[in-house]
Amino acid sequence: MASKTVSVAVIGAGMAGRTHANAWRQVGTVFGTDGVPNVRLAAICDAYLPFAEAAAKSYGYERATADWHDIVAADDIDIVSIVVANRLHREIAEALVKAGKHVLCEKPLTDNLEDAKAMAEIEAGADVVTGIGFGYRRHPSIAEIAKLADGGALGQVMQFEGRYWCDYGADPNVPIAWRYKGPMGSGALGDVGSHITDVAEFICGPIKAVNGGTFATVIDKRPPAVEGISGGRGATTGAEATETVENDDIAKFNIIFESGAIGSIGVSRVAFGLPNSLQFDVFGTRGRASFDLARSGEITLDDTHSPAGLRGPKQVLSGPDFPYYKGGSSMDFSGVGNTQIEQFTYQCRAFLDSVSGLDEGLPPVPSWAHGYRAMRIADAVARSVAAGGATVEID
Ligand SMILES: NC(=O)c1ccc[n+]([C@@H]2O[C@H](COP(=O)([O-])OP(=O)(O)OC[C@H]3O[C@@H](n4cnc5c(N)ncnc54)[C@H](O)[C@@H]3O)[C@@H](O)[C@H]2O)c1
Repeated sequence: MASKTVSVAVIGAGMAGRTHANAWRQVGTVFGTDGVPNVRLAAICDAYLPFAEAAAKSYGYERATADWHDIVAADDIDIVSIVVANRLHREIAEALVKAGKHVLCEKPLTDNLEDAKAMAEIEAGADVVTGIGFGYRRHPSIAEIAKLADGGALGQVMQFEGRYWCDYGADPNVPIAWRYKGPMGSGALGDVGSHITDVAEFICGPIKAVNGGTFATVIDKRPPAVEGISGGRGATTGAEATETVENDDIAKFNIIFESGAIGSIGVSRVAFGLPNSLQFDVFGTRGRASFDLARSGEITLDDTHSPAGLRGPKQVLSGPDFPYYKGGSSMDFSGVGNTQIEQFTYQCRAFLDSVSGLDEGLPPVPSWAHGYRAMRIADAVARSVAAGGATVEID
């Protein structure tokens, strides 16, 4: 039986904002109903009002606004997702926390270290629930690999090789958007690099140092922005490319974990032909596990448990024994698979559990302090680049 009602708003109705709007709508449909509050879908905000209105209509929210201050001022809203450009996170988060709202903020925490530190401090002094959207931790296949690594099934984990290759910026005629502005390291590294780096730590534990950092900005000018760009994939306008791209299109670096394991990460937003390719391999002394987001409903596993003569990589379909899978969908059996969209629902459910004091065994959403640490890793990569690839310890 649902015990009470909590009201939700989403600020930002672009690509990820609509996904949060959907997740809050779905949040009561997974993992049973005992003790789960009713979720009232109160408001969607986007500075570009047609996006807010369209998302409110599509996902069943009561009202739309173009001004986030309306959400801060509204007494009928308990929980807010911040899903706008990274440089706006701090100001909005600070105002919401002061107004007593619980805040789920998208990754990366901000686009600079100073704001990230400030948000960690705001969190430390707050009596509301705060969290950051490192949602790949909730992907059943990725969470299963973390479970295998943690449980020793792969032996001692020695190496992590991760890449997140996207092509949303591969066309030089795609107009400039907030993603292309900000310091070096806030481009591909802050955007998709923050996710794959968090996955590396989720599976292999804390990163101690980075080295070999390299950035490249391949397309240094783009046409001016037009209204209503979503996900950095704005339609080409035919305008001349006059606006300067400030940050990295490609980032590469090596990682050294506290455990002694090593690895490397490569990320890109100009990887022609790969719209959304997150892949990694984890090597242990007794096994190897691999994941490819294009084959989201499975992992590849090789270990020493197979009978003699039958060793080799095997396809393991995600299923009810994987984290989040059982009860995570209306068809929770192997072969149905799972997607990137569902992990947002599981993330919102974990956040709702924390807000409502419900313990369903879901790990809490990582804190803003964790988000600040992730920003320090990105900063260490930027310092490694500036120092010709030198080793930089994480503060
Ligand atoms: N967790 C994930 O998998 C994931 C995926 C994509 C994006 N993100 C994160 O989500 C955030 C948004 O990314 P996106 O891809 O949705 O961006 P987007 O550009 O598609 O959408 C951002 C929206 O914010 C609106 N906006 C701009 N200024 C605003 C303001 N002052 N008040 C209210 N709305 C404003 C824009 O009109 C736009 O619709 C970023 O922090 C990004 O890193 C996370």
